[in-house]
Amino acid sequence: MLNLRFNDEHLSGFLTEDELLIMQEEVTVCHDLFMNKTGKGNDFLGWIDLPEQIGETVLRDIEDDARKIREIAEVFVVIGIGGSYLGARAVIESLNHPFASMLMDGKRAPLVVYAGNSISQDYHASLLELLDKKDYALAVISKSGTTTEPAVAFRILKAHLENKYGKENARERIISITDQSKGALKKLSTDEGYKTYIIPDDVGGRFSVLTPVGLLLFAVAGFDIRKLIEGARNMRNTCIAGSSLLENPAARYAAVRNSLYRMGKQVEILVNYEPSLQYITEWWKQLYGESEGKGGEGIFPAGVGFTTDLHSMGQYIQDGQRIIFETALTIGSPSKQLKIPHDPSDLDGMNFIAGKTMHEVNQMAALGTVLAHIDGEVPNLEISLPAINEETIGELLYFFEFACGLSGYMLGVNPFDQPGVEDYKRNMFALLGKPGFEKESEAIRNRLAAGK
Ligand code: PA5
Repeated sequence: MLNLRFNDEHLSGFLTEDELLIMQEEVTVCHDLFMNKTGKGNDFLGWIDLPEQIGETVLRDIEDDARKIREIAEVFVVIGIGGSYLGARAVIESLNHPFASMLMDGKRAPLVVYAGNSISQDYHASLLELLDKKDYALAVISKSGTTTEPAVAFRILKAHLENKYGKENARERIISITDQSKGALKKLSTDEGYKTYIIPDDVGGRFSVLTPVGLLLFAVAGFDIRKLIEGARNMRNTCIAGSSLLENPAARYAAVRNSLYRMGKQVEILVNYEPSLQYITEWWKQLYGESEGKGGEGIFPAGVGFTTDLHSMGQYIQDGQRIIFETALTIGSPSKQLKIPHDPSDLDGMNFIAGKTMHEVNQMAALGTVLAHIDGEVPNLEISLPAINEETIGELLYFFEFACGLSGYMLGVNPFDQPGVEDYKRNMFALLGKPGFEKESEAIRNRLAAGK
């Protein structure tokens, strides 16, 4: 029995059940492409079976390494960008105490911090100031091993770590997660003797959260990776069992979003009402944006945190261009209780909600928002979890991955490549004078001189 529920009951004014069910045949064709591995990008479908395939040996290895890191490190630095860090950050931040960094008392898991997800000099220099004062270990994650951002950060942190602990001891504090055989990071890891985990060849970066890319980091942060995999496995069983729009929630989500897109709703906003879910949204944005935005097609994935952003983006969503639909990620029960107190003076006029929990108020804010946005012609979908825990987050991750692949096929694109990401890199390498880019360097210098 799944914990996650996909709810489109508020859709009736925009799309009827009969109109949706017309999509069934198309969804079934795309589901078959998945299951038979005959669709575009079919050499990158390894993620479908990850929850079943992850073996006991790898799990024990990850748990052992996580234990060692927790013993030696106050801070754990995760170096990676895009699919090589967003999934891990999404899970850690959704499950972690929001003030974990200030509650560090030596007994908790290390504080997880991130590097190589930008080229910001100030950020990385500030990180070194922290690491000067703390015992730390790091994971460097890059499937290709050649991505500029993590490579630059690792260069800097490797030197810092070796300077701080000596080369031999530094080696014990570095774990690399990379491709089986290709790539600079694999060679470097072998030469230096780093403990290395492998990202399978047939799993692309943004679908890699259930490989060691995510699992090692969750274990270091103190979470139960077996429950997370269990959740993903439950969702997988439902997703692969069939394509019925009445039974497979991922298939239904893919069908609904494509129907809305064809009706001119070009922007999907993922809404959450819990700040801890912010990085689930960031991960989702990358998953859908990089998978679907191709050849002039694709729903633009955006994200907001409510009620916070009702005070910034609310006006546009309610009243701006009518190209938006919303998917709200809602949580049934919070993990902590907090009631609003009665105040005899009632100067703020809030006594009418005294005695209610904040969660009750949050839920009414959510319902009020959904109704207002429907009135403003913003179709509303809901993905609900009974609570935030390892199992439900595992379900959610797999749900989004499966729906993303199906949805990409319905759009007619290859959801598993990312050719457009190379363009900025080519320009950057040309501008920085990377060997092999001499022609591009000259062309870009001429272009800049001509002011184009
Ligand atoms: O989804 C993807 O493939 C990308 O987001 C990559 O994960 C990202 O570009 C990082 O690549 P790499 O792991 O090769 O450093």
